[in-house]
Amino acid sequence: MKIRAPRETGGIDDKLEITVPKVFVVMNDDKHRGELEKALTKYFKLTVFSDSNNAMRALETESPDVVIIENDIKPLGGARLLVQQASSPPCKAGVLLTRDQGEDFTVSLENATCAGRYLTWPFPAKQLMDAITELINENALKSWEDLPETQAKTLKLTVDEYQGIADAIASGEPINYNSAAESCTPLVDAINEGGHHDLLKNVQAHHNYTYVHSMRVATLLTLFGYGIGMRGDDLLVLSTGGLLHDTGKLVTPPNILDKPGKLTEEEWPIMRDHVVESGNLLDAGDDVTKGAKIIAEQHHEKIDGTGYPKGLKGAELNELARMSAIVDIFGALTDERSYKPAFPPAKAFAILESMETGIDQNLLALFKEIFGGDAASGL
Ligand SMILES: [Fe+2]
Ligand SMILES: [Fe+2]
Repeated sequence: MKIRAPRETGGIDDKLEITVPKVFVVMNDDKHRGELEKALTKYFKLTVFSDSNNAMRALETESPDVVIIENDIKPLGGARLLVQQASSPPCKAGVLLTRDQGEDFTVSLENATCAGRYLTWPFPAKQLMDAITELINENALKSWEDLPETQAKTLKLTVDEYQGIADAIASGEPINYNSAAESCTPLVDAINEGGHHDLLKNVQAHHNYTYVHSMRVATLLTLFGYGIGMRGDDLLVLSTGGLLHDTGKLVTPPNILDKPGKLTEEEWPIMRDHVVESGNLLDAGDDVTKGAKIIAEQHHEKIDGTGYPKGLKGAELNELARMSAIVDIFGALTDERSYKPAFPPAKAFAILESMETGIDQNLLALFKEIFGGDAASGL
C-alpha cells in the first residue's frame, strides 16, 4: 500500500461524541417505577418522575428520546401529558403503560407527531426494551431524511444491510459480501464529499450499538484510507471491511455483548471470540475480499504481539490490520455508552499514543493529521 502525505493539519475537534438515548419514566406506582428503573438504567440516561407535574416542567426544557408513562398518572393522565408536550418542544416518542387492552398509539397535533406504543401490564421487560428501541430507530430513520442525499443514502442502505446480515446469520445463511459492498458505495462518495462529520454524528441516533460502532469504524477507516490516497475499489474494501468487522458480535450472547462495565474472566474469552466468528462468517460467504478479511480478523491484534486472537506481531500485521486497530480503538474511545463518557478525540489520541508498542505510531500520526486536518474545516 502506498502511503501519501496527509492533507494540511489543524486543531483536533473535541466535540465528536455519541449520545446515549434519554428516557423519562413517569409513574405513580413505587413498585413498578422501581422495576422499570432497574431494567432500563443500564441502557439509557434515565430520569424518573413520580407525578406528571414535575415531568411536564422537565419537558419544558428537555427533549427525551422516549417518555414512558402510565396512563393513570396523577394529576394529568399519561395520554394528556404526551399530547400537551407534543406541541412544544416536539415529543419524540412515548410509551403509554395501560391496565387495559391497548393498540398502536399515535398522537398527532397540527405540527407535531408523537410516535408511540401502548403496553398493557403485565409485560416482560424485553417487550418494553423492544418498543423503546423501535421508537428510537424509527426517529433515527426520520432524522436521516434531512441529511444531504449521499449521507442519507449511506445510512439508510447500511442500516438495512446490517439488519439483513443479522437476519441471515440468525437463519444460518452466509453473509453476502457483494451486497454489503454495494451498501457502502455511497459511503465512499460521502467521504469524497467531506460528509464524514455528519455521518459520525448522525449514525448515533440509531440504537443498535453494533451497527453504530461498525458504521463509525467504516467511516473512520474510509476517511483514513482516503487521507492516505486510496481510491476506488481499494477504498470500498476499507468501507465494507469496517462495516463487517464485528459481525461476529451478532452471535455473541447479548448479556455479555451489552454488559455495562467490566466483563468477568469467564466472559472475556466469549467476547473475544467475536473476532474468530467474524472470520468464520465471512469465510462462509462468496466473493469476500482479502482486505475485508484482514480487517475483520486482525483489528484486535497489536504489533507487540499482545493482541488477540492470534497474538500476531510486527511484520505479520500489514497496514490494513494496523489501521483498523487504530480506528477500532479510536471509535470505541470516542463513543459514549451508558456506563462511560465519550472521550474527546484529543484524549483518545493521547491514549493511543500511550500505547507505544502496541499501535503503529507512524500510522497513528497520519490518522491524527487526517482527522485533525478535517477538524479545521468543521469536523
Ligand atoms: Fe471487534
Ligand atoms: Fe470493533
